[in-house]
Amino acid sequence: MTTPRIIIVGAGIIGLSCAYELSSLGAQVTLFDPRPAQGATNAAAGMLGAVSEIHFGETDHTPLLLAAAAAWPAFARNLEEISGQNISFSQSGTLLCGVTQSDRAEIDRLAALHVSLGLDSRDVDRNDLGGLEPSLSPRITRAHFVSGDHHVDGRAVASAMACVLRSRGVSVVTNRVIAVEVASSNSSVTDDMGTRYEADHVVVAAGSLTNSISGLEQARVPMIRPVKGEILRLFDAHRSLRHVIRAIVSGRSVYLVPRPNGEVVIGATSLESADGETVRAGGVFELLSDARSVFPGLDELAFVEANTGLRPARESGSPFITRYDGQVTVLGGHYRNGILLAPITASVAAGLVLHGSHSQEHLFEVFA
Ligand code: GLY
Repeated sequence: MTTPRIIIVGAGIIGLSCAYELSSLGAQVTLFDPRPAQGATNAAAGMLGAVSEIHFGETDHTPLLLAAAAAWPAFARNLEEISGQNISFSQSGTLLCGVTQSDRAEIDRLAALHVSLGLDSRDVDRNDLGGLEPSLSPRITRAHFVSGDHHVDGRAVASAMACVLRSRGVSVVTNRVIAVEVASSNSSVTDDMGTRYEADHVVVAAGSLTNSISGLEQARVPMIRPVKGEILRLFDAHRSLRHVIRAIVSGRSVYLVPRPNGEVVIGATSLESADGETVRAGGVFELLSDARSVFPGLDELAFVEANTGLRPARESGSPFITRYDGQVTVLGGHYRNGILLAPITASVAAGLVLHGSHSQEHLFEVFA
């Protein structure tokens, strides 16, 4: 059998994971991205929040999120072993809490939704909460603990995969793909320098830029819109927090993700905007102020950086896979869950590309 030549458009977490999986199965992979791993992947907090990312009206893809979370421990172990790099995969669980009375009521409604879906979420009262997370504000008198919602350092994951891809001879072309074309015997992409590259199969994982690529069958590729998120990174020399904290503060959502190396990620705003560069002063103010209501010790942390990412969102909130002509696969709509969904998306995509099917493809919305 000849080695399949695969082009992957997009080297964010989804494109990189597909390259990682396909190259492990013997495919010859070329990645295209003008700024590999610098978009939403660079901003992401790395929460693997299969339960805590389930919101009212967005429960259709719950089985996919749970299967994605289940794939992470083995994926993380494997990636650390092959790359020799630490990706800070932490299995410490997540606390959901509210600050005001109405915030607590909102969190209770969310926790009741999780329980009604049979998901693991348990009440923590004031006494237990002090032992579990001593640095929380005394205004937080109870919480819900989701023991299965973990986190990982998304930047470290991207860097570990890039290192493995280099060792496997995967090439990265830092040009933007502007068109995909399907001919009778193969497919091709054209980059913004006008160069055409041929392959046996093209995988598009271009996040919020997907619809700007010409030549894709628009009828089978749903609209993906950018939802901007501003996010902060601080450093806590005392490692004060032990769990991911997801809170509602005066009606607004905020999360704090403490990494073993002292980094604390605080996110994220959510704006209907395609401006992936500007960090608004108001966004920084809102995040710091809300995070401080949850964790008063925040004032003593070192401020490291603020940046933004564009979440690739569909109207329905669900990710999809489109494939046609046996030569093009489009992966999209990963929205708030790109890091969580990366291993399962890559596994399913590799199955579809190399064998035409995968046992977990039914978990995605598939357009074929
Ligand atoms: N998953 C976190 C976010 O989208 O902000």
